[in-house]
Amino acid sequence: MPRIAYVNGRYLPLSEASVNIEDRGYQFADGIYEVLAVAGGRFLDEALHMARLWRSLDALDIAAPMGGAALRLVLREVVRRNRVRDGLLYLQVTRGVARREHAFPQASRRPGRHAGSRPVAPALVVTCRGLAPPSGDVAAWAAAAITAPDERWARCDIKSIALLPNVLAKERARRAGAVEAILIDRDGLVSEGASTTVWVVDSAGTLRTRPLGHAILPGCTRAALVAELEAAGIGFEERAVGEAELHAAREVFVTSATSWVRPITRLDGAAVGDGAAGPVARRLSALLRDPARAGSKQG
Ligand code: PDD
Repeated sequence: MPRIAYVNGRYLPLSEASVNIEDRGYQFADGIYEVLAVAGGRFLDEALHMARLWRSLDALDIAAPMGGAALRLVLREVVRRNRVRDGLLYLQVTRGVARREHAFPQASRRPGRHAGSRPVAPALVVTCRGLAPPSGDVAAWAAAAITAPDERWARCDIKSIALLPNVLAKERARRAGAVEAILIDRDGLVSEGASTTVWVVDSAGTLRTRPLGHAILPGCTRAALVAELEAAGIGFEERAVGEAELHAAREVFVTSATSWVRPITRLDGAAVGDGAAGPVARRLSALLRDPARAGSKQG
């Protein structure tokens, strides 16, 4: 069965799906994206992802491609047509197709057209693929990470498709036999992973993650975990972790829509703590698997 993509109003086999070469996403990375986990046929943290999508569009002054209700229907239809029960959904909105000029496309001023007629429409692409969720045994999901300098721009809170520094850091990790690059900012503080939120149980036993701000993406899994921690009465601090503290941590783990809770048991070639998935990561992994987290069922 061919995979099906939604591209600007049409559901097409991937082999037939294409975008215009003057799409501003292609030429300027002028767009935003979201990745949602599908678990047992349901989206995880859907409302959080939709809210972040709208926030990213607003921050870049990109028009919404359609209303929220219509968009949720499209997402469900892409999952349904691809017959995915467990996997991930990717959606991307770019500013649209226009002759290449850096500034935003303007309303046409050609004679015979209304000055002020609509500028280009945003472009929407949605794909979905099956992916087995990590096994319930979080120790089997443990992995290695490296540290790398954070070379990204100053608005990492926007989920922009401009991911070149993240790509380069991830490739550096892969070449080192690791799954993630933990990015260290110019002040020597952990910002986040190349595609994950970073959590640490420091040498004093305090669970910590960086506070929200322009330096990191507001992770939806982070938000879901914060809600679970508060509901369970588990203490944590939103306080940035220094590089030395990271290396001295008892536990390090990362979270994202596709990683869930992933223990980092080796960092820059050395064991983290005792080198095994720790008790906090185990407990939080179980919390995140709470079935109540899965939202609305697919149609
Ligand atoms: N990445 N930080 C960065 C830089 C990310 O790219 C991501 C997600 C996260 C975690 O966010 P969330 O919990 O909402 O998935 C943090 C996605 C999965 C990706 O780019 O594939």
